[in-house]
Amino acid sequence: MENPTANKPQDTEKMVVRGLEGVVAAETRISYVDGAQGQLYYQGYNIHQLAERVSYDEVVHLLWNGDLPTRKQLNELRAQLAAEMKLPEPVYKWIKSVPRSTPPITVLRTATSMLGIFDPEADEMTPEANLRKALRLVAKVPCIVATLHSFRHGREPGKPDPAKGLAHNFIHIFHGGDLDREMETAVDLLFVLHADHGMNASTFTARVISSTLADMYGAVSGAIASLKGPLHGGANQKVMEMIEDIEHPGYVDLYIEGLMNDKQRIMGFGHRVYRTEDPRGVHLKRWSKKLCARDEFCQLYEISKLIEKKVKEAKGINPNVDFYSATVQHMLGFTKIYFPSVFACGRVSGWTAHILEQLADNRLIRPTSKYLGEYGRTFLPLGKREIPKAKPAKKKTH
Ligand code: CMC
Repeated sequence: MENPTANKPQDTEKMVVRGLEGVVAAETRISYVDGAQGQLYYQGYNIHQLAERVSYDEVVHLLWNGDLPTRKQLNELRAQLAAEMKLPEPVYKWIKSVPRSTPPITVLRTATSMLGIFDPEADEMTPEANLRKALRLVAKVPCIVATLHSFRHGREPGKPDPAKGLAHNFIHIFHGGDLDREMETAVDLLFVLHADHGMNASTFTARVISSTLADMYGAVSGAIASLKGPLHGGANQKVMEMIEDIEHPGYVDLYIEGLMNDKQRIMGFGHRVYRTEDPRGVHLKRWSKKLCARDEFCQLYEISKLIEKKVKEAKGINPNVDFYSATVQHMLGFTKIYFPSVFACGRVSGWTAHILEQLADNRLIRPTSKYLGEYGRTFLPLGKREIPKAKPAKKKTH
């Protein structure tokens, strides 16, 4: 029998915006990326004003509440975060059992999802309960990464100091000891600069998941899954692989020309929004130089600078946050497989702020698609079906 809807295409007029470029998906007060001017604002503060002048904990308070904390509020927040760093026992045990070959960001994604199992408030959707879960996530995500590193180096994870900031406690557990003042400032800055960045892919993922009223642990696990990709937060690890592959400043030009001849992407360069320098990169470049200067044999900054020069000249594209953060993270003692997970440790404050904002004025995020398939095909019962003859490949439509 003929299908009555045969030959009635209805979707031909729809416009597809590939990669949702330029699509306004939400209203937000949390952060603003000014791509034309190369500026980034957290709740109205230009990050150039905040960098090296505020701790990461102050930024967490700012993103959640709209204002920087008073001294008293900051002390309270630090004590709460330190108390919430403790992981549920089954999560500790599971982290200990994970195969060594598992990338830390993959461990983090799964452990974050597990946290939801052990939080009795996971599905409690009041604003107060959601804020408590945001606090737990901002405290526990860095603790998962630091705990994994401790176990893999044969150490039991240390205890956080409630008087100290989250970046300090993270590094203390991660390395099993403290860093000097300059290095600690760099870790704090790294977290501050990664805290939020408009409607990036992982933040959008978190908001989409939350908009279904699913739990916050699921939304943050999804965000981590999205961050892992090399076009997003996985780029920093790829940058380090490239720098190590180059090995010597004298090989930069040939190496980059090789990548371009092979039509490969140069990791740590380009951005969907910035048409100018990434403002976060300005600070990271300075710190990359500063930290590399501590080791007279370190050529990583030198190589990075030459890569930047070559790519700018050849392709006219600028480094993004992941380019100089690679050398900064390396000089802070993180091995490259940890880079994307360290990014997540800072970004979790932004994800949770966006989830809280989404839930405060929620509407299900449910876009549509342009249907390119057929209509009105004739149904055949199982016994009468044959493998169809191969059809010629269809051209991509945009
Ligand atoms: N290397 C070589 N060419 C590039 C690069 C790059 N890194 N970035 C963009 N292009 C070219 C691209 O080939 C394309 O050229 P054409 O029009 O001739 O085909 C043009 O620029 C536009 O690229 P696009 O992929 O359409 O632009 P997009 O806005 O979708 O891409 C991006 C943004 C970040 C995915 C891209 O720049 C890229 O792949 N960069 C490398 C990966 C990376 O560093 N990611 C980190 C992003 S920023 C921080 C974060 O989110 O974690």
